[in-house]
Amino acid sequence: MSPTLFSTFPDPDQIADAAEKLRAGHLVAFPTETVYGLGADATNPLAVAAIFEVKGRPRFDPLIVHLYTTADVCRIVSEFPPLAQTLADTFWPGPLTLVLPKRSLIPEIVTAGLPGVAVRIPRHPVALELLRQAGRPVAAPSANPFGWISPTTAQHVRDGLGTAVNCILDGGPCDVGVESTVLSLMDSRPVLLRPGGVSQEEIEAVIGPVQQAIFAEGAGDSAQLAPGMLSRHYAPRTPLVVIERGETALAIPGKRCGLLTEGTRAWQAGFDQIVSLAETADLRICAARFFASLRSLDSADLDVIIAHKFPDNGLGLALNDRLRRASASN
Ligand code: TXA
Ligand code: MG
Repeated sequence: MSPTLFSTFPDPDQIADAAEKLRAGHLVAFPTETVYGLGADATNPLAVAAIFEVKGRPRFDPLIVHLYTTADVCRIVSEFPPLAQTLADTFWPGPLTLVLPKRSLIPEIVTAGLPGVAVRIPRHPVALELLRQAGRPVAAPSANPFGWISPTTAQHVRDGLGTAVNCILDGGPCDVGVESTVLSLMDSRPVLLRPGGVSQEEIEAVIGPVQQAIFAEGAGDSAQLAPGMLSRHYAPRTPLVVIERGETALAIPGKRCGLLTEGTRAWQAGFDQIVSLAETADLRICAARFFASLRSLDSADLDVIIAHKFPDNGLGLALNDRLRRASASN
């Protein structure tokens, strides 16, 4: 992985300083390939508590622990089955999170009391260098106030968390743009808890069929499986209405309307602002631009944002999940 792929790379001193802050129990915001994370030493319950405080995040919503190598992962989980090894060999470093039985080294506050811990090795060179230098497992949710749109640039982190976090590493815009896929390996059958940057098809091509948690219909049962999967999440302040792919988007007369569309879908005149995510309908480009586009529409003083659904495959599954939660009313 070449750092030159990324537009920004912090000064080595800044990364060393951030690693020192993590070890001292402070919070550090850092880039990953998916979204920016708000990190704390996962073995320090007080440091982890500060994440919940700064984000305004409910304590029942567990955190993902980020590690530098698979050997580091094996130090915090009590089992690392062959299936995990196969997935690690294929997708790490990268946007796949595995839930595995935890060891007592990881405090309960990280997992919200659950027996499993969510682990991943991110692919961003700044994240990897930070983890290497910190020499600790780093718990990190997305670096945004709870429930709001996830940050894909350092500026988004500043906009959302302001002065609450004094160390923000800038690694440029995130290239994947949606959060990691969360796959539970706590039972004999793998369960997809959250669709994300690695598609279900890519996972199934490697390990065969995976079961989907019931994330399609909001909270319900999935709230127990993946406590963080609340129905309303990733949400702009402006009301968001999601329409089918084949449907022509119509502006509402008398209202300032915005449109978020993949680019190939149809719309009629009358929108105040249109964000066309990818002329080529490439879902990777759509994902990389998704949260930033939602933010720009949200700050355009609109009455309503209308969004076209994405195809229900590949990264489209993750994007539709984010759209569904962003448009949920509770
Ligand atoms: O891409 C990502 O995953 C980003 C970057 C920063 O790595 N992180 C992220 O974290 O999206 P967060 O906190 O916004 O979402 C983590 C979700 C939780 O809401 C929950 O659904 C699931 O991962 N999760 C975490 N720990 C879990 C556990 N022990 N058991 C089941 N689900 C868990
Ligand atoms: Mg989040």
